[in-house]
Amino acid sequence: MTRQDRDLEREITPPEVFFNRRRFLRGGLVAAGAVGTGLLYRALNGVATDEPTPEQPKLAGLEKPAATGAPTAYTVDEPLTSLRDITHYNNFYEFSTDKDEVASAARGFSTADWRVEVGGLVEKPRTFDLADLLALAPPEERVYRLRCVEAWSMVIPWAGFSLSVLLNAVRPLGSAKYVAFQTLLDPTRMPNQSTAVLDWPYVEGLRLDEAMHPLTLLASGLYGRALPPQDGAPIRLVVPWKYGFKSIKSLVRITLTDEEPPTTWNLQAPDEYGFFANVNPNVAHPRWSQATEQRIGESGRRETLLFNGYAEQVASLYRGMDLREHF
Ligand code: MTE
Repeated sequence: MTRQDRDLEREITPPEVFFNRRRFLRGGLVAAGAVGTGLLYRALNGVATDEPTPEQPKLAGLEKPAATGAPTAYTVDEPLTSLRDITHYNNFYEFSTDKDEVASAARGFSTADWRVEVGGLVEKPRTFDLADLLALAPPEERVYRLRCVEAWSMVIPWAGFSLSVLLNAVRPLGSAKYVAFQTLLDPTRMPNQSTAVLDWPYVEGLRLDEAMHPLTLLASGLYGRALPPQDGAPIRLVVPWKYGFKSIKSLVRITLTDEEPPTTWNLQAPDEYGFFANVNPNVAHPRWSQATEQRIGESGRRETLLFNGYAEQVASLYRGMDLREHF
């Protein structure tokens, strides 16, 4: 297939089918009629295993959600996606634009001497080294749905603490209204940054009230171990009621501002990716419906939930706003 054919196919094929087909063809199997089903997806990924990746250290002192069996704000009553899928079906353009190549491209990514600079409109700006940052609060296990704008989803047992813990530690000024986030910029360690596939560094942003919401997670691990490189080592954001592109990986800078900060995908295609990016089955992406999604590892499709199932907790943040206009 020429590049032009591929671009055309991308335009006329729903994204999850497009991506699964590429994976499928690479596997050397041809059964186009069945492409895209969860069953085949499993077959192509081999038997799913939840064995942690041995090179990632276990997180000390991880607090599990209360084992009551009842769903709480921080857990989901749905099967977990396998560790294999969470770590081998990734969006991380700094390493590769192929989901199934990110893990190998990111292998060996060094997070030594990692620092996160927190500043802007705060009383106590501070550059944290990773150990100081992680010492702010014990890691909690948070099982969240992750819904990508491309219409696939997962259920991931993250470990981390609310971003509000970090923000409170630097004391936001009354003038702070937004929080800007930035990924590492270093093409020697993130090789795809030497291409122009996106404007680097990857940047994201939230309104301050969204950033302070207890669901907004600063994650340092998954499946009880430190984050693997492909999932945003050593520290990333997870905002479970928004499309996955808001959950920026490998953070090095957090800046409080009084103006809405620029965000990577909005800069790339403003008509397709808004600043808010709240999961919403009723607002279609200009090129595909957002009404349903492919849960990775399952057959069939699920209905997409408003705010990704977190409406009870977050809908009040958007009271009086037209969600079609502020998409
Ligand atoms: N963060 C950075 N820095 N670069 C990226 O390419 N991709 C985003 C988000 N964070 C991305 C990023 C997208 S589109 C998604 S869906 C999620 O990360 C995917 O996270 P996962 O690979 O851990 O599932």
